[in-house]
Amino acid sequence: MSSSNITQDELNEIYQFAIQLSKTAGRAILQGSSKRFSSSAGSDFKKNSADLVTETDQAVETLVKQSISSKFPDHEFIGEESWAAGEENPISDGVVWIVDPIDGTTNFVHGFPYTCISIGVVVNGEAKIGVVYAPFLDTLYHGCKGKGSFVSCPHNPAPRRLPLENPPQLTDLNQALVAFEWGSDRRAHILDKKLASFRKITGDTTGGVEGGKMVRGVRSIGSAALNFCHVASGNLDLYWEIGCWAWDVCAGVVIAKEAGAAVVGSKAHASSVIEVKGEEFNKVTPEILTARKYLVVRKIKEEKSENEEAQKHILNEFYSCVDEWDP
Ligand code: IPD
Repeated sequence: MSSSNITQDELNEIYQFAIQLSKTAGRAILQGSSKRFSSSAGSDFKKNSADLVTETDQAVETLVKQSISSKFPDHEFIGEESWAAGEENPISDGVVWIVDPIDGTTNFVHGFPYTCISIGVVVNGEAKIGVVYAPFLDTLYHGCKGKGSFVSCPHNPAPRRLPLENPPQLTDLNQALVAFEWGSDRRAHILDKKLASFRKITGDTTGGVEGGKMVRGVRSIGSAALNFCHVASGNLDLYWEIGCWAWDVCAGVVIAKEAGAAVVGSKAHASSVIEVKGEEFNKVTPEILTARKYLVVRKIKEEKSENEEAQKHILNEFYSCVDEWDP
């Protein structure tokens, strides 16, 4: 599809449709979950025992893809399961939906409730809509460029704007609650770098860990999309991962950015944009979205330039501990 100028009304229509679609997909995930232990509806390994796919991933992706193409026949689609089946579409100009039917498949298989559908929409190369719905928690996150991002859940059904109020101070990494994931690539050369990075980020210098930053805590909830949403909410301070894909993060990128969070790619990308003020700093291009290296830090200050400075300080401190690899 060639570059399209869509109006605000059209963007809004896509946004509302994406929210409804996430609920429909959520119901299909719940239905799939009741069958997931039956012998005919188990899980298969994709690459290895930590990289799973279930019939429900595939059925939900088909449902979502068909719904989008019958409502918006001109739009492009990139989905985790279509990609795995060989449909490796680029992020072209026009409107591109980037979907993970079940982010947190391992959680889904084990009945750990941090499982969601993640729906991102990119328009002419810019991620503009993000919807993440976690059906077991009945929690919906959504955001649209320029309109903010929101959460609603059973005990607070009216959408609340993100970030949620009064997160603790964050002037140094040692005040941070950080999310990492173990990922599915556990080969020695990768694990060595990952563990060396984890060691520095969590370690105590006074206890002998040279350069240790001693963050306050670490969480691994098993869903990239929900990690982004928690950073957007302000109840996680940072999330870092190498190895996840555009469909894991696209929706979360919009939700986080609309909540004042900063998203960068690799160390090299971060160091180039950290020198820049304004728009370039927090610009997630298709290259960054597909480069499989992501670091996001929550909103720290109300005032925009103070927020940016505070985020850059934390990003620099974090990346000084990281030993990267290519996924
Ligand atoms: C995975 C989850 C996990 C992350 C992996 C992703 P999936 O997505 O987001 O948290 O560590 O990198 O691939 O396979 O459950 O859709």
